[in-house]
Amino acid sequence: MGMLGLLACADRAPERGTDAPSAEAHDRDAILLASAKVALPPAGLTLVDLPDAKSEGARLVERYCTACHALPTPLTHSSADWPRVVRRMWLRMDGLEEPARVPIPSSAERTVLLRYFIEHALRVSEAGLPTGPDRPLFVAVCGRCHELPDPEQYSSAEWSAVVDRMGARMTIMLNQSLTPTERSRIAGYLEGAAGARANR
Ligand code: HEC
Ligand code: HEC
Repeated sequence: MGMLGLLACADRAPERGTDAPSAEAHDRDAILLASAKVALPPAGLTLVDLPDAKSEGARLVERYCTACHALPTPLTHSSADWPRVVRRMWLRMDGLEEPARVPIPSSAERTVLLRYFIEHALRVSEAGLPTGPDRPLFVAVCGRCHELPDPEQYSSAEWSAVVDRMGARMTIMLNQSLTPTERSRIAGYLEGAAGARANR
């Protein structure tokens, strides 16, 4: 059915006795869509933003992982979590029927894709994050969209830049912002935590 056909259906007066449930269904669809949006890869990334952007893995991500949502990056999950997420995506692609089909990777391509996500995953903190007055704030804020990042992966200066970028992501994705005090407390905690462990 083309666009006009769909519009014609939408225009048709609801049958008697069915308008209340269909209004409810409509509300439910709207809520479902809104909730799904929160859990989708963030908009705005392009191939050059991906780690090892010239690799076959990155190229396959662009080819197969953009049919339904924005380009995903391996940096939103740990290597332990990616197999589960990617498996869910195979289900979503494989389950679609005409006319909503999307490009389907071969099994060799799936292996390359999974390996790419695992190899370039977010580096997460293992047990033993140092305590401190700002640890709860770090855990509450920086664990909201992905697992807790490992403090040791960046220097002090680099952490400030990453925390600023994450503050911007929060504004766009969650419509919430970090206050300047929260930003500097989190950056300070990360710098201290990286140093504390490096000196152990
Ligand atoms: C057939 C449509 C479709 C394709 C193709 C697709 N996805 Fe998704 N993806 C979804 C839907 C729907 C959601 C939201 C629900 C969910 O998370 O399962 C989603 C959500 C996501 C999320 C955010 C949720 C999370 O757990 O982090 C990531 C990351 C993701 N997809 C990665 C990928 C990757 C990697 C590929 C390519 C291998 C891919 N997607 C291909 C439909 C698709
Ligand atoms: C609103 C969701 C959200 C919150 C909250 C969030 N992040 Fe992220 N984070 C992302 C997304 C999306 C990516 C992948 C895209 C990117 O790198 O910008 C990411 C990637 C990362 C990466 C890997 C990329 C890199 O540059 O090394 C690190 C490290 C990171 N976040 C640290 C943090 C820290 C620290 C906080 C707390 C201040 C935080 N995140 C809070 C969404 C979020």
